[in-house]
Amino acid sequence: MKIAIAADHGGFELKQKLIAHYAKQGIVLEDLGTYSEESCDYPLIARKMTQAVLSGAAETGILICGTGIGISIAANRVKGIRAALLYNADVARLAREHNNANIAVFGGRMQKFEDAVTYFDIFRQTAFAGGRHLRRIGELDE
Ligand code: RB5
Repeated sequence: MKIAIAADHGGFELKQKLIAHYAKQGIVLEDLGTYSEESCDYPLIARKMTQAVLSGAAETGILICGTGIGISIAANRVKGIRAALLYNADVARLAREHNNANIAVFGGRMQKFEDAVTYFDIFRQTAFAGGRHLRRIGELDE
């Protein structure tokens, strides 16, 4: 599975930790930036990720800003994107089963690293349930 990751300065530290963690497991997270703690704008970071997911360059992605809110709003303005802020294990599972979420979002200043790993592992290993949920996610893009 091709996975991309991107963060603004508020999510930079968590992004770096996740990249290092998954690299140890042989899982490459393609880093779309930002590449330092210098202040930058989350809408532009979200745009890079949504382009990667919609083009197929990445099958899924992780987006991080300080709270996870701004970057969620930005990503979800793009048709075809379903970005889900993961804040517990059930939400991580349901975001895939019910919403077929194609981007996982974290608040870098709110989220413990260990929890982010737990939630993203559930997210990436859970399949979309289809059925009635297929109709509902279709309605999002009408
Ligand atoms: C940046 O200071 C912060 O506003 C941003 O990372 C994010 O939390 C916005 O929603």
